[in-house]
This record gives sequence, structure tokens and C-alpha cells, in this order.
Amino acid sequence: MDRLLITGGKRLSGEVEISGAKNAALPLMASTILCKGETVLRNIPNLKDINTMSQVLANMGAAISVEGGCLKINTGSLVNKEAPYELVKTMRASVLTLGPMVARFGYAKVSLPGGCAIGARPINLHLMGLEKMGAKITLSRGYVVAKAKRLKGATIFCDISTVTGTENLMMAAALAKGTTVIENAAREPEVEDLANSLNAMGAKITGAGCSVIEIEGVDELHPIDYKIIPDRIETGTFITIAGITGSNILIKNCRADHMLAIVEKLRETGISITEEADGLRVVGPPKGTLHPADIKTMPFPGFPTDMQAQFIALVCVAAGTSIVKETIFENRYMHVAELRRMGANIEIEDNIATVRGVEGLLGAPVMATDLRASASLVVAALAAEGETVIDRIYHLDRGYEKIEDKISKLGGDIRRVKAARA
Ligand code: EPZ
Repeated sequence: MDRLLITGGKRLSGEVEISGAKNAALPLMASTILCKGETVLRNIPNLKDINTMSQVLANMGAAISVEGGCLKINTGSLVNKEAPYELVKTMRASVLTLGPMVARFGYAKVSLPGGCAIGARPINLHLMGLEKMGAKITLSRGYVVAKAKRLKGATIFCDISTVTGTENLMMAAALAKGTTVIENAAREPEVEDLANSLNAMGAKITGAGCSVIEIEGVDELHPIDYKIIPDRIETGTFITIAGITGSNILIKNCRADHMLAIVEKLRETGISITEEADGLRVVGPPKGTLHPADIKTMPFPGFPTDMQAQFIALVCVAAGTSIVKETIFENRYMHVAELRRMGANIEIEDNIATVRGVEGLLGAPVMATDLRASASLVVAALAAEGETVIDRIYHLDRGYEKIEDKISKLGGDIRRVKAARA
């Protein structure tokens, strides 16, 4: 397994370009199932999860090609309406093929995603919504089988706002007969980006980005050429990197309007974040002067759970105590044990982490456990004294495109050591 070697303590400078959003790309790729012909998606990041979704679609019979940052997907000749366990278990977002397949073919067989490191992450709300639209759902041997002559519009209330649940149901409703209303819908920018792309395909969706989304079903959708939004979590990650290393960097190709909670909270720690013509100018405060701050992770527009681990790494060296409350996932503190190995002073009780700032962190061998936990170890290592070796960075590769190249370009001392071929 590849690992990252990072020697911390260096001040960074220069510019970093943010890649397209992984969590916008994945539902948009699944939505190509809804229409025949070749869809062109632009600004797609080159990530492991994107490759997995491509495998899922190719396994169904889609023709896929990558040309200069463009992903071309033609689902005109899909022959297999299944998403198999061996692919879904590596990436739970494969479940996003369920809604589009039922909508287009009236049949879908998708492996239940199973658990994940950060929590049980059930999909009951995805299935409840499809049943309300008339799908017959059966669970057998770890698979969901969904059947429907033609889905019909329905009013669906999600008692928890679910990002991929909202996306699955929005895609299913786009070709249903009649109008669907999703109440307590997820409001994330990636949900809105999917709605915009579906409307470009000919769908009739209003309210995306708010908590009530209305979808008037149509009979057919057509392929599009569409550029996806930038990644707000990658942007937030680079702001914490600049903050913890006392650096002055320019973050380009980002959307500050997608990350007001992140920007406000990180400003509270003393990081200067200002909008310039071609990006966000981020200046971290001098070593030892970061302020502590408290966060509670919430659905958008609140502080996102996907930034919780990176935030904890940052405030490990703040001048005071920060309280972090994780309300979305039940087991999203696995980075804490690794940060403690670097000298962090963090106590966990139930879903609350108490982070008492320390003078500085010390480099150590640590292990990535999930995508954002691995990002938090990179943040910490860049400020730690001495060398940190981060193992199992395949977790990082799921959501960050060439992060070591981007950090090296900023002057960071980071390199990837390829695992010896087994
Ligand atoms: C999406 O996951 C993101 N993934 C996650 O990003 C992100 O952490 C999460 O939203 C929350 O923002 C993608 O978009 C591909 P949820 P998702 O359904 O849709 C519960 C990353 O780091 N729930 O919004 O799976 C669930 O257990 C990844 O990029 C149900 O109970 O998350 C959780 O507690 C990690 N039943 C809460 O809702 C359901 O049917 C929110 O989950 C669905 C969800």
C-alpha cells in the first residue's frame, strides 16, 4: 500500500487549483443512465471513487471514455441492470444507480452498500421514497431488487435529510408520471448541481437547494454537456492547511458561496480568508496564535461533517480548548487516536470531542482509516515537527486528486512512497 512521507513545519506559499467536486460527479455520472446517447461531463476529478463509478456503469454496458478532463458516458446500450456487491462494497455511492435504473428500465438490482467505517449508513429512506413512487422493493441475499411498470409522482417526507437519498429520489422522479415533492430534502450544493444538470437534460425540477424540491416527471431526457461545481471540502481542507502552517496561499477555482459555514468558522480561529478576483486569499496566523472554536456538524448550510476531521487537526494546536460535536455519523472520530499519536490532547465522550490545544505536534507513523480522517492527518503532519508517515493512503485517493503534487507545488515537504509490488 502506498504511503505519504511528510516533514512538517514549513510555511507554504503560491496557488492551488481546486478540482471538481467528487460528491457532485458521482450522482451526475449515475444520472446518465436516465437518457440514451453520450453525455459529456467536464471538470471531473481523477479519483478512485470516480473510477469505481465508471466501472459500475461499464459493467452495465455503458461506453465510457476520458478525454482531457472530460468524461464521456453513453448509456444507449445498457444490457445489465445490476450494481454488483464487489463494486458497491468499495464505494457505497454506487447506490445512486438505483433510482435512475428503476426510472428508465422499471427494474434494478443493486447490492446493499453495507456498513462503512464512519457508520451504519442505512438506505431505508432511499427505498421508502421509491416505494411511495410505486416501486416494489424486495431485499434478498444482500441485494435490493426494485421493480415498477412506471414510477408515479408522490409526496415524500425524509425524516432525516439525506444527500444521496435526495439525489436518488430526484433522479427517479424526473421520469415518473406526475409530480413528486421531496420534503426535508438535503440542501447541499451537490444536490443543486444535480438538479441543474437534470434540468439541462429536460427535467422539470424546482426548489433544489431548499428543503422542498418539486419534480414534474417528463417522458424523456436527453444527453448534455455539463461542467460540475468545484469541491468545497477540498477547498476547506486547503484553508485548514494554510491555517495550521501559518501560510499565505491563493485558492483558485473555488466557490466561496458554497461554504459560508466553513469560511465563517475558520475565520473564527484567526485565519484570514478574503475573496480576490481569481480566488480565495488565505493567510494563517503566526504559529501558536490560532484561536480555539466550537463546531457542531449539521446538514447544509451548517458546518459539514466532511470538514470535522480537518477542523480537529487544526485546533489541536490552537491556544485554548475547542468543543466539537459530530451529529451526522456515529463513528467519525477515528482520526483522533492517530492525532493523539502525534501529541494531540483530545478526549471523546459520546459524540463530543474536547480538543485542548498543545504547543505543537510531533511527526509519527500514523494510519489513515477513512477519507476525511486521512485528510486530517495530512493537515496535522504539515505542521508537526519532524517526519510523519501516513499509511493506507488509498483512503485519501478516494477524494483528493494528486494532493501530494498540489502541496509540493505550494512548497510542502511531501512525497508518496509506492508500496513494493506484492
Ligand atoms: C453524503 O453521504 C456524502 N457522500 C458524504 O460524503 C457526506 O459525509 C454525507 O452525505 C453527509 O453530508 C456523497 O455524496 C457520495 P446522508 P450520504 O444520506 O448521502 C442517515 C465524503 O467524505 N441516513 O446524507 O450517504 C445516515 O446514516 C462522504 O465525501 C439514514 O438513516 O449521507 C446519516 O446519519 C462521506 N437513512 C445521515 O442520514 C437513509 O436512508 C446523513 O446521511 C439515508 C441516510
